[in-house]
Amino acid sequence: MNRTLIQELLQKYGSVSYNTKGYLPPPAYKGSSNLFISEREYGEAEKLARTKLDYLLSSAEAQAGRDPESFLDLRDGGSDTRGEPGKPIMTGWLRYAGRTLEQEAFLEDLQKAGDRIASDFGAFVVIGIGGSYTNIEGIINAVNPRGTRIPFYFLGQHLSAERYEKVFAEFSRLSKKVAVNVISKSGTTTEPALALRLALDKLQNIGKLGAVFATTDPHKGALRETITARGFNPAAYFTDEINRHFFIGEDIGGRFSVITPVGLLPFAVAGINLKELLAGYQYGMESLRDTAVTAAACKYSAYKKGAVNAVLSYNAACFREKILGFRQLWPECNGKDGKGLNLMEEFYTADAHSNGQLIKSGIKNIQEIFHFITDLGTDFEIPASEYNNDKLGVVVRGAETALSLHTINNRFMAALLMDHWKSGIPVMAVTLPRLHPFIVAMHMGVEHCSAVLFGLMLGINPVNQPGVQGYKEIAFRLLGMKGTEPLGESLAELKDFGLSF
Ligand code: PA5
Repeated sequence: MNRTLIQELLQKYGSVSYNTKGYLPPPAYKGSSNLFISEREYGEAEKLARTKLDYLLSSAEAQAGRDPESFLDLRDGGSDTRGEPGKPIMTGWLRYAGRTLEQEAFLEDLQKAGDRIASDFGAFVVIGIGGSYTNIEGIINAVNPRGTRIPFYFLGQHLSAERYEKVFAEFSRLSKKVAVNVISKSGTTTEPALALRLALDKLQNIGKLGAVFATTDPHKGALRETITARGFNPAAYFTDEINRHFFIGEDIGGRFSVITPVGLLPFAVAGINLKELLAGYQYGMESLRDTAVTAAACKYSAYKKGAVNAVLSYNAACFREKILGFRQLWPECNGKDGKGLNLMEEFYTADAHSNGQLIKSGIKNIQEIFHFITDLGTDFEIPASEYNNDKLGVVVRGAETALSLHTINNRFMAALLMDHWKSGIPVMAVTLPRLHPFIVAMHMGVEHCSAVLFGLMLGINPVNQPGVQGYKEIAFRLLGMKGTEPLGESLAELKDFGLSF
């Protein structure tokens, strides 16, 4: 079934492609940049990436029959394994899409639940942070550039009071009730826990609280414990088949979890075809593994030569949150043990007029990955004008060399690629034929695989995030949580920084 579906979708929507020629220096390059890689360096990195891919796949094979609970120690700074043979890392994300495509009844019921939620409610609020948020908004915005069938709001990914105020004011203007989906694997993350309290209180007060859905761990955690008692996941929407599969598996880390119910419920509410999305991810994950290896090998070789920053460039505004999803994925996977590739996002052509200056001419520690979208699904011809002293008459409607707005946009970004390459920056061109769920998920499948391979090449465990615990412990002290030292003493430490609140 999957193969036939994938073939049909490939014919209809095409495939993602990566061009890495720009990691080699331009012909007859005379500049001083040392960041370009040689064929030999690439060959060595590719060999390493393939070894790590073998570890990854054998790790996945070894885990296939294991009790999911046995992966708990691999999260959040538990046993820090590095994906070496016999020391597996969490790899449930490698199998999830393929397996779930076989669960036809689950996917059909969830798709129908999404349709009903969209018709019964005036808005859908997604509450989550990090892996329980970024790619949900990323995919929804990319594939629905003209907006979703009901408005989506995202809360819990920050503690910014003025944004809460704005969203709550919008709730008040809605004529229908609002559905809420709180997503937290651990069920104890502070930002979504506060957002849930605030959103439910606000909606109750204005009489607009509709259904509440909770996506969390299958067995434990603060959220799981209260789902039934609080009437979350109501039977009017959730069939037994949905309930059977509606959890975040223990063997899937947060930043890979958007292909699980974490993303699947919001996507169903947005009207995204779940099978097409999962098929795209599966294809990217399985059939484009060579692409993931090549991309990881290029980025790794350039990183070793000093290109410790990777700029993710794009020129479609609706793709911004998807790019931010990669900014979450790569550094959270790879920023460990004093190593890691820093990611920056560049929205061209806007940023060509700001930090484009630094990318081209500043300190040479950057590699740049350009994301081109061939067909944006909307475009404009440029109207003719009697005032052509800016020389743009060549691109207007009716001219022999007329160009559309999106083609001009892509040519400008291609110009930035060429210019930065010739200025000493290794560049990669990633092309998505269109922003369809099949394609966007395929791209994400390649990047998930590539980011993990990159981390394994660095010799770190790319699927845990031990570094994010430290600030939480300090924050809990500063909130005066039980079990921490006296609040007064903790607040006194802040005075040294001139902070008193
Ligand atoms: O990738 C990760 O694991 C993190 O970004 C988590 O998704 C994030 O911290 C949210 O965690 P939780 O879903 O437990 O609330």
